[in-house]
Amino acid sequence: MRIGMLTGGGDCPGLNAVIRAAVRKGIQHHGDEFIGFMEGWRGVIDDVTMPLTLETTSGILQKGGTILRSSRTNVKKIEGGFEKCLETIKRNKLDALIALGGDDTQSISLALSERGVKCVGVPKTIDNDLNGTDACFGFDAAVMIATEAVDRLHSTAESHNRVLVCEVMGRDAGWIAITSGIAGGADVVLVPEVPIDIEETCRLIKYRREHGKKFSIVVVAEGAKFPAGTVATHDESLDSFGHPRLSGIGQTLAEEIEKRTGYETRSVNLGHTQRGGTPTAYDRMLATRYGVAAIDLVHAGKFGRLVVLRGTQITDISIADAIAKTRTVGQDLLDVLQSLQPLKDAV
Ligand code: F6P
Repeated sequence: MRIGMLTGGGDCPGLNAVIRAAVRKGIQHHGDEFIGFMEGWRGVIDDVTMPLTLETTSGILQKGGTILRSSRTNVKKIEGGFEKCLETIKRNKLDALIALGGDDTQSISLALSERGVKCVGVPKTIDNDLNGTDACFGFDAAVMIATEAVDRLHSTAESHNRVLVCEVMGRDAGWIAITSGIAGGADVVLVPEVPIDIEETCRLIKYRREHGKKFSIVVVAEGAKFPAGTVATHDESLDSFGHPRLSGIGQTLAEEIEKRTGYETRSVNLGHTQRGGTPTAYDRMLATRYGVAAIDLVHAGKFGRLVVLRGTQITDISIADAIAKTRTVGQDLLDVLQSLQPLKDAV
């Protein structure tokens, strides 16, 4: 078969491992041919490709980013976008198209499926919030980076009696925040799922101070917001899928904490450091399993489907189900967090 592949949305450690696994299985076991589209859906619209062979995908397993580059190109917003995609697919005589991406990228896969394209999806998001899968590759690396940052922040927080606020990624879901926060021993973790309770945040920080701990660490997801407020953004602009560029809640929070407690409070925003560098062994393993499973779906003729992890097993769900809702942090993890904190009426 002739198979196209692309990576869309934010980059993520493990994308190359998926590409490599799919190409190796496809070529060596089925005699497939692969074409890589450059920069996400933009490459399909403009027909910009690179050959994906055993040679061009060799040595990329441990490499961060994506050899296919990426973009947040929304085909729906481009005049004649879908027609151009269909022409490209026809011109390249493709039998199937594998798209690696989150809900935005997969919304285009779904629209193309509805136009007769044989699409298979691979879930990708650092935020780990795609519905129907228990894990996305790259999340583990992001959590490792954020946890190490929280560990490192302890040194300065403790030495200088400071409150340090660490802003991590997580637009609609706080998976990175809650996992790195608990793993790193943060004193307060704030996620998009729960409106920020500034009084409770300050109470926890003051409680620590009154019980001998003169420093505190707060982890906040970029998408967390105050009850009445909107999300903190870098500027007014929106990307082509209508998302604002989130940034700044950490700094706002630090100012508010300092104002209310009188304790010196600083913030640090980890930003894209969380998406960079080599995938962890877990990410490489999951990415490789997804790559192999994607080729298996293609050869089973199961199109319009997305490979997912359920428990420890790889299976598949419809792309439509995968993008129907966001997988958010559940009460079980929020309860774990609360279990580590003093009770509300503790003195
Ligand atoms: O969706 C993944 C993500 O990393 C979000 O956590 C973040 O809000 C967004 O991408 C940032 O995107 P960009 O790198 O395009 O600014």
